[in-house]
Amino acid sequence: MTALLELRNLKTHFKRDKIDIPAVDGVDLTINKGETVALVGESGSGKSITSLSIMRLIPSPPGKIVDGAILFNGNDLVNLTEDDMCKIRGNDISMIFQEPMTSLNPVLTVGEQIIEVLMYHQKLSRAASINKAVEMLEMVGFSRAKALINEYPHRLSGGMRQRVMIAIAMSCNPKLLIADEPTTALDVTIQAQILDLMKELSVKYDTSILIITHDLGVVSEVADKVVVMYCGQVVEEALVDDLFDEPLHPYTIGLMGSIPSLEGETDRLQSIEGTVPPPEHFPIGCRFAPRCPHAFDRCRAEAPKLVEVAGRRKVRCFLHSDKEATV
Ligand SMILES: Nc1ncnc2c1ncn2[C@@H]1O[C@H](COP(=O)(O)OP(=O)(O)O)[C@@H](O)[C@H]1O
Ligand code: SF4
Ligand SMILES: [Mg+2]
Repeated sequence: MTALLELRNLKTHFKRDKIDIPAVDGVDLTINKGETVALVGESGSGKSITSLSIMRLIPSPPGKIVDGAILFNGNDLVNLTEDDMCKIRGNDISMIFQEPMTSLNPVLTVGEQIIEVLMYHQKLSRAASINKAVEMLEMVGFSRAKALINEYPHRLSGGMRQRVMIAIAMSCNPKLLIADEPTTALDVTIQAQILDLMKELSVKYDTSILIITHDLGVVSEVADKVVVMYCGQVVEEALVDDLFDEPLHPYTIGLMGSIPSLEGETDRLQSIEGTVPPPEHFPIGCRFAPRCPHAFDRCRAEAPKLVEVAGRRKVRCFLHSDKEATV
């Protein structure tokens, strides 16, 4: 498999009152061509800052990529000029967000917003852009695409708006689509439809997807690989089947316990006790130790490294790295 995107030891920090805030603190992550990777973790883990770093959209100051590489087709995006980065955004890498209403312009019709992107990025004529816009809206499942062109976003439901965002994001045939909590604001049935659509498009157009979510339940159907993030670091990485068969990291096991059952019996929901500490207060030693049911003395003194286990997955936990080291 060929790597499309490779994050190597990515560190994105913020400065507040001269304090260094290590929001993303040494992330390694690979997305192969055509692969769907899920980046999972509770709110505050550093998922969005990771994705905004890839897009080079970190507000600076106070934020800065302070170390590491973001290799896209082998080129390091960290060193690109803003002009070069502009060409990559929207052409090679597209992004969709949780709440499409904030990304869609309320005073422009749906058609205008897609046409604008096509004329700017693909340099299509207006007439060609209109045809292509209709085609894109049909592709994301709208049967009356021609009429929809003249509608304003507020007339659409949340699920329809997210479909429009996907149509816009896919209109330049990107190699990578980053979707940051794309279904969090939607109800469960619509969530499933949007995820199915993304999967279908990824297979059809050989687009790689980085799907970001705090809900592990969302990823089992769509992702090939899952990367679990906690306190600015990757704590586990595995193929989706391996992860669901046997989660290794105590944090992943905790996240699994928080997946609501299909029947929606929320009373069986077990959340992990405590909350994600803010980056300025990351514990020394294992960052999960204060919340981990298996923590022992070493965990509070020494930071575990991300190590490969079973030849095809990675985990950052002494319970597994020690076992591996003694094999
Ligand atoms: N503009 C900012 N200034 C300072 N700290 C920030 C800023 N944006 C994010 N952070 C820090 O980065 C952490 C990770 O944020 P984020 O990537 O948005 O988490 P997630 O998407 O996983 O919920 C936050 O908890 C916050 O402490
Ligand atoms: S290293 Fe220790 S504290 Fe950290 S996850 Fe593993 S057992 Fe828990
Ligand atoms: Mg986020």
